[in-house]
Amino acid sequence: MNIVRIKGVSKDYDSLRAVDNIDLEIKKGECFGFLGPNGAGKTTIMGIIYCFMPPTSGEVRVFDMNVMEKPSEVKARIGVVPQEENLDPDLSVLENLIVYARYFNIPKKESLARARELLKFIELESKADVNINALSGGMKHRLILARALINNPDLLILDEPTVGLDPYSRIYVWERLNYLKSKNTTLILTTHYMEEAVKLCDRVAIMDEGKIMDVASPSELMEKYGGSMEEIYLKLTGRKV
Ligand SMILES: Nc1ncnc2c1ncn2[C@@H]1O[C@H](COP(=O)(O)OP(=O)(O)OP(=O)(O)O)[C@@H](O)[C@H]1O
Ligand SMILES: [Mg+2]
Repeated sequence: MNIVRIKGVSKDYDSLRAVDNIDLEIKKGECFGFLGPNGAGKTTIMGIIYCFMPPTSGEVRVFDMNVMEKPSEVKARIGVVPQEENLDPDLSVLENLIVYARYFNIPKKESLARARELLKFIELESKADVNINALSGGMKHRLILARALINNPDLLILDEPTVGLDPYSRIYVWERLNYLKSKNTTLILTTHYMEEAVKLCDRVAIMDEGKIMDVASPSELMEKYGGSMEEIYLKLTGRKV
């Protein structure tokens, strides 16, 4: 079953075509990665999938619903880890989760239990009552992951989920994502780390200038083009070192 169906989707910002006529299907339970240089259109296409902004043309269906027609229904079943950290600096760790739960109309008692469970999941129980500013960068990252899970999403969208993390924290996040995948959560992520793409993704799309240059599993790409993922990435995006 396809969780996401993208047909002929483009997105223009004035005269700039950020996403250029993309067709793509993402299956239930898979981990799908968007790879590509800065400005390739990765954040833009993900923003369209999670109903942050409409496409200029084309159709996107998520859970078999048109994102333009049923944005609330679609959003209710998606968790998002944005590229920029956007926790509420006036609130504690626990409060950040509880306030976020309100967007999904989760009753207070249930959200409190869920928030505590998620703090365990990311090993931050001891920080529940501290202010956000007292967290390290890596801890904030983990908290954003927990926040994205507050509504028990069927689809988790992660925009560069491990940027700036130390090796332990990165491996920790990978392990958490693999756990979610084993529970049949569909994952869509972007990353600039080829190792991460190979370790996590069942399939990747290599993007450049709003277009998908190729889409396949990392091993299929390596068989088709030869060389490492880095070399394939450079070849498909026309970069030479
Ligand atoms: N709100 C906006 N207004 C105008 N142009 C935008 C806006 N957001 C993105 N763009 C442009 O759209 C193109 C794609 O941007 P996008 O953020 O999707 O790239 P990306 O692949 O996520 O890059 P990165 O790896 O740097 O995160 C870029 O040329 C960018 O300058
Ligand atoms: Mg981006």
